[in-house]
Amino acid sequence: MGAVALAAGSLQPLTALAAPVPIIGGAPAAQNEFPFMVSLSMGCGGALYKKNIVLTAAHCVEGSGNNTGITATAGVVDLDGPGAIKVKSTKVLQAPGYDGDGKDWALIKLARPIDKPTLKIATNTRYNRGTFTIAGWGDTQENAGTGSNQLLKAKVPFVSDRRCKRHYGSRLTAGQEICAGVPRGGVDTCQGDSGGPMFRKDDSGAWIQVGIVSWGDGCARPLVPGVYTEVSTFASAIARAAATL
Ligand code: ARG
Repeated sequence: MGAVALAAGSLQPLTALAAPVPIIGGAPAAQNEFPFMVSLSMGCGGALYKKNIVLTAAHCVEGSGNNTGITATAGVVDLDGPGAIKVKSTKVLQAPGYDGDGKDWALIKLARPIDKPTLKIATNTRYNRGTFTIAGWGDTQENAGTGSNQLLKAKVPFVSDRRCKRHYGSRLTAGQEICAGVPRGGVDTCQGDSGGPMFRKDDSGAWIQVGIVSWGDGCARPLVPGVYTEVSTFASAIARAAATL
């Protein structure tokens, strides 16, 4: 299952493989620190956009329409712990025109509202800078394939399109994607964190979502940033789509 792929670099000592947490550059999140975080049963993360709508990645879902096959788990950092709120999906809405290149967002309607704070999304480019928080239950090392039962968190600085293209070239869809990562590597999201939010504080001190975990070459490699859906680009499309659910 994915959560923030706070992936550690391959230089980690072998003993670290057995350590549940923390990871290089990552740390366990506290209960209720990120109450909008949701774990999705297909192995992705998400955030509560409305109490009954989860914002995740388009590549985490198979299309649009009625769908009762996804379970969202919220209200806990430990997925196996007591007190988990589990709610089934009723519908999925994949970004219109999604073809695997950009537009990596989707909405999941829940069978009932989850009584937790939602995460507001950036509606303009103002917060597409600075230092971001990432969180998730995803792999703690590239190719681990196991995910983490504990919600992990880390911080990653914004990386400009120009610098991000030094590695990805034209594979980066600059208008639709925003990059983040530490140049030396060792901190990143990874497989299983997809769909989860990348967020920061706004001027009023409230959390605001600027990205959706989307893709990257490996995880936490030096000079290879993580690529996130640029939420501000799609804010009005997301709001319109949510209104139809
Ligand atoms: N595509 C991955 C997933 O489905 C997320 C990969 C993020 N990779 C990265 N290096 N930041 O979980």
